[in-house]
Amino acid sequence: MNDSPSEPLADPVRRLVAEAWTFRRQVELDAALRFARLTEQLAQLGAPEALVSLAQRAAEDERRHAGMCELLARTYGQVDMPPVPLAVEEVAPPGMGFRERVLYEVVAACCITETESTAVLTTLLVPDATPRVRAVLRDILRDEVAHARLGWAWLAREHAEGAVAFLAGHVPSMLEGSVSPRLFAAGGPEEESPALMKHGVLPHTRKRETFVRALRDVVFPGLERFGVNTGPGRSWVERRSAAGA
Ligand SMILES: [Fe+2]
Ligand SMILES: [Fe+2]
Repeated sequence: MNDSPSEPLADPVRRLVAEAWTFRRQVELDAALRFARLTEQLAQLGAPEALVSLAQRAAEDERRHAGMCELLARTYGQVDMPPVPLAVEEVAPPGMGFRERVLYEVVAACCITETESTAVLTTLLVPDATPRVRAVLRDILRDEVAHARLGWAWLAREHAEGAVAFLAGHVPSMLEGSVSPRLFAAGGPEEESPALMKHGVLPHTRKRETFVRALRDVVFPGLERFGVNTGPGRSWVERRSAAGA
């Protein structure tokens, strides 16, 4: 069958694919814990019921995504799974008030990370991806779009309350936290293999381009629309791109 990873796929590439899906599983499990906490926090802050249920639903989605990622990782030969995380730390720096901390986390997790994830999944949904991979990507993509919307909706609401300008200076840390430290460095030859795409993994350069394009086309304009100055975020991209080149 044509979606079997046992078709000619160089071993180092297969290993990268297995590792990528294993890593995604961890990201999904962390996201599940994060959304479970945000559900409580948004309720405490008096968020509309629709947003609280969206967060609750997101926590369930992420657990399901983790299961699909695990299955795919095993299909590509991953045997050992890292332990299931039991807690995930808040990403906001210490000393912030409760309302600001929640907004920080929602912007980092939803407006940035989920929007970026949507861009990656869309790029990966190429016609020649294996049917099994496509089915998983499509399923996850549908949910991640909703998770990103949750972030924009909460940011819009907090913007209406007039309390979002403080985020501007924090955008670089949020971006730093959302990427692998190696994203702007050169990738090895296997990491650049075009064969990765078919199995749901972006080659390294493509990953970086997709990340930067989604920032410029979606994330930064979205933040600006809701009153967050993206000067510091844009400088971060310039700096990191120049350093990696
Ligand atoms: Fe997910
Ligand atoms: Fe998500």
